[in-house]
Amino acid sequence: MEQERERLEAELLAAIAAAGDLRGLEEIRVRALGRKGEVTALAKAVGRLPVEQRRAAGRAINALKRNIEEAITRRREELERIELERRLAGERIDVSLPPRPRPEGRVHPVSQVTEEIVAILADMGFAVAEGPDVEDDFHNFTALNIPPEHPARQMQDTFFLEAEDEKGGPLLLRTHTSPVQIRTMLAGKPPFRIIAPGRVYRRDYDMTHTPMFHQVEGLLIDRRTHMGHLKGCLIDFVRAFFERDDIPVRFRPSFFPFTEPSAEMDVGCRRGEGQLVVGAGDDWLEILGCGMVHPAVLREVGLDPDVWQGFAFGLGIDRLAMLKYGIPDLRTFFEGDLRWLRHYGFVPLDLPTTYGGLSR
Ligand code: PHE
Repeated sequence: MEQERERLEAELLAAIAAAGDLRGLEEIRVRALGRKGEVTALAKAVGRLPVEQRRAAGRAINALKRNIEEAITRRREELERIELERRLAGERIDVSLPPRPRPEGRVHPVSQVTEEIVAILADMGFAVAEGPDVEDDFHNFTALNIPPEHPARQMQDTFFLEAEDEKGGPLLLRTHTSPVQIRTMLAGKPPFRIIAPGRVYRRDYDMTHTPMFHQVEGLLIDRRTHMGHLKGCLIDFVRAFFERDDIPVRFRPSFFPFTEPSAEMDVGCRRGEGQLVVGAGDDWLEILGCGMVHPAVLREVGLDPDVWQGFAFGLGIDRLAMLKYGIPDLRTFFEGDLRWLRHYGFVPLDLPTTYGGLSR
């Protein structure tokens, strides 16, 4: 019996150590300590021994039981730990992995600059208005004090469409955003304070002219508005836009049929080595036309010029983009070259605001 016990102990301890998982271990436990187990059978055999041997044999069997139970418990803990580690390894999340890549697309400088201009003028209290690209003669010319035989109609080389409006009048691609002035004043009641960004079209093509380009119209109509308001508004605008207080500007007397007096505003710049830099230099770039709204225009939309006055301006968005971001040739804006867009474009979702920064 002594030998039998030792053999069984050695065999069971070896089997326990070799158990590869919890189920295998449980089978060994049943085989050893279960009701029909080998250790249980040995314990029963103690009862058949001569009386004087039972005590010692009983103690030895109890020690065997304890050893086996302890070995099983230890092995179970070990197997549970291994199992847990395996699961943790499988469910591991690497929080140090880099985030998803930045978006690849770029925002075109014209879109960026439009957002910047709108942000500044919205802060000054201007609301955004819109009008169609395809206009009729009345809104683009006649209502703006440009009568049929007026030379200004040739001055702005117009794209006329073959289609006509309901009255048989000519349809055209708007040559400026000024028709939105007329639409706004006909649709609402003064005072007015609006800006209208959009596309405009003229037959023109060189370094600073393309057949389609972008303007922002501005219109402010109120009682007692004067030229000082116009100048203050535009000088503040230019400083905010270029994010500099020392931008050289000049107002030159000019002519537009729909404003009196009229002016054009230039920004100082320097050109050279394929670069265009804003600031003091030997060159000026015209960026806008402006003036006090002509009494004939006010009368046309049913306003009394003795009560209501105001100013209007038309800003060239593309020109401002060239100046601010040093892009020397306007034609490259519309060639659709992806290398150009990657170089001059802006990262999406960085929306320009006057408080968060216009451009980064
Ligand atoms: N519409 C003019 C242009 O396209 C600009 C302008 C707008 C001038 C408003 C005066 C007032 O050149």
